[in-house]
Amino acid sequence: MNVAVHYLRDIAPRKVPFRISLRVIVATIVAASISFFAKAKQAKPTTPADPLATTIPWGQQPTTGGDVLNLTLVRIEEQTHDTKTLRFVLPGNKQISPRPGQFLTFDWMIDGKRVKRSYTICSSPTQRNFVEITPKRVEKGYVSKFLNDHAAVGLTVQARGPYGTFYFDESKHQRIVLIAAGSGITPMIAILRYIDGLSLKINATLVYCVRTQNDVIFESELSAIQNRMPGFRQALVLSQHGPEWKGWKGHLDRAMLEREVQRPLDSTFFLCGPPQFMELGCSLLREMGVDPVNVLQESFGGGISREKGSVAASGPLEIRLARSGLTYQSCLTETVLESAELNGASIPFGCRQGNCGTCATKLLSGNVRMDNDEGLTEELRAHGFILPCVSRPLSALTLDA
Ligand SMILES: Cc1cc2nc3c(=O)[nH]c(=O)nc-3n(C[C@H](O)[C@H](O)[C@H](O)COP(=O)(O)OP(=O)(O)OC[C@H]3O[C@@H](n4cnc5c(N)ncnc54)[C@H](O)[C@@H]3O)c2cc1C
Ligand code: FES
Repeated sequence: MNVAVHYLRDIAPRKVPFRISLRVIVATIVAASISFFAKAKQAKPTTPADPLATTIPWGQQPTTGGDVLNLTLVRIEEQTHDTKTLRFVLPGNKQISPRPGQFLTFDWMIDGKRVKRSYTICSSPTQRNFVEITPKRVEKGYVSKFLNDHAAVGLTVQARGPYGTFYFDESKHQRIVLIAAGSGITPMIAILRYIDGLSLKINATLVYCVRTQNDVIFESELSAIQNRMPGFRQALVLSQHGPEWKGWKGHLDRAMLEREVQRPLDSTFFLCGPPQFMELGCSLLREMGVDPVNVLQESFGGGISREKGSVAASGPLEIRLARSGLTYQSCLTETVLESAELNGASIPFGCRQGNCGTCATKLLSGNVRMDNDEGLTEELRAHGFILPCVSRPLSALTLDA
């Protein structure tokens, strides 16, 4: 403002007394600011009560990536004998705008122990005041058992996100094929709820593999969506079934995909399930001539070794964890996180996909190749941090862990 006054003083006619001209200038600036802020307030879009009322496609809105969310459990709904949907609300007027398929990394506090696990936001991304997750109880699973057996309304938890590049984007994906196994249905239902909620004209096929009919999560909702959405068809694959079952039997195979998927070469594929399921899915799609760039993947357990064997090193390499004093030989097909776990070290992790940054660890010596470094801030990168969950050693390593 001093500069403005100085400048205006210089150009003002000498006849105008300085005090008057200063008052005029200050009044003009105040009036202009009031009018600017009033206009800005008017122009700011209010949250639409109806998601259809928005003019910006949800998939193109910025995500709140990395925000800490203080969530409260408000509703629990049983889905199958081993899955429940948990609804969490955000505090006050805080809102979230995930993309369809993204996940949150939660900081659970169970029996005084803090543990991180990621869960896909399975509610429609058009819902901005709450998020739902659907954990499947895994045998001896620490968190999934707690969530299914003991979590009660009122539970509070901190989460970070939304994270992930496994999401549907209507500006890019016109024909989609969703291939899921077990709890891998969660990002698919988020995508379908989103398309259905916004009445998008998308051609979508779901191939859903489960053990028995009792393991089908969101069964009635999938049927309802099929009745409503003209461009949607689904194929259920049961590995265990009675004689009455007339649908697909066994495991995912090429004949099934060729029968169910129309125009595979023009489609974008979304694969989610256990690592072996996805490896099978990818190799079938490769055989069918699908370009790998049109295949998006999300692994819920163990991580995907997409680039196994492509490391430059030729033999086992020594890894030393400076703080815990552990030294071991790494197997080249493992990520730095996997080999640490196999050798009894615990490096905290969240997504195991290089997205959340939870596992970031300083590399004191040696070289790694990271499949993805989205989870690192510029600052961490500059200070030599790596993401062990997606790093493979290129030489012997020393880590600050
Ligand atoms: C991005 C992302 C999204 C996810 N979204 C979902 C979701 O929507 N729903 C959901 O149910 N899970 C989801 N998961 C998996 C979830 O984070 C946990 O790994 C899972 O609930 C098991 O945790 P746990 O603490 O119960 O098992 P742990 O105590 O960590 O493991 C116990 C045993 O179970 C095995 N195990 C670990 N994870 C799995 C698994 N996913 N399937 C089978 N066996 C396993 C382990 O090898 C171990 O032997 C997601 C994971 C990621 C990375
Ligand atoms: S665990 Fe999320 S970046 Fe490694």
